[in-house]
Amino acid sequence: MTGLDGAAAERLLEARLSPRRREHARRVAAEAARLAQRFGAPREKAELAGLLHDYCRELTDAETLAAAARHGIPVGPVEARRPRQILHGPVAAAELLELGLSPDVAAAVRLHTVGAAGMTVLEKCVYLADFIEPGRAFAGLDEVRALAATSLDAAVAAAVRLSLLEVIGRGRGVVPAALALYNESHAGQ
Ligand SMILES: [Fe+2]
Ligand SMILES: [Fe+2]
Repeated sequence: MTGLDGAAAERLLEARLSPRRREHARRVAAEAARLAQRFGAPREKAELAGLLHDYCRELTDAETLAAAARHGIPVGPVEARRPRQILHGPVAAAELLELGLSPDVAAAVRLHTVGAAGMTVLEKCVYLADFIEPGRAFAGLDEVRALAATSLDAAVAAAVRLSLLEVIGRGRGVVPAALALYNESHAGQ
């Protein structure tokens, strides 16, 4: 295992992602690095996970499902309806692990879309960075950004709540890991 550095990550992205999405990835990397510094996660790992988090975001649904099968990634009923949107993180994590990405960084890539209960600080920083990066604009985001200035857990709680409201508002299914994160982050409320 040689590991993956920023330059190798950039080359991987160039082969897989549109320029617009590469810009998003760079903004997530910068935001993840800021959050990591603020909340005590390894800065370079956060930056690398941010850069690579959407590595598989532009695969087709069929390619995503094929990769999931190849890597033994479980496909539940909700994932089966929206494979690209929900499984691009787990598929990217599996592919990048094979390329030598360290397991903790790969885990942050895996969990960036849906989250999970029991996330590490690094994983939370990447999840939140994808949510609040400066290119995003939607109702409620300013509150999450404000919380992210002082409390990682409060910001993640607000982010998962907004995510679930959006998903449910559209009448879509919720994956169990997202509900687990919601319940954990709203424990006692
Ligand atoms: Fe993503
Ligand atoms: Fe993203």
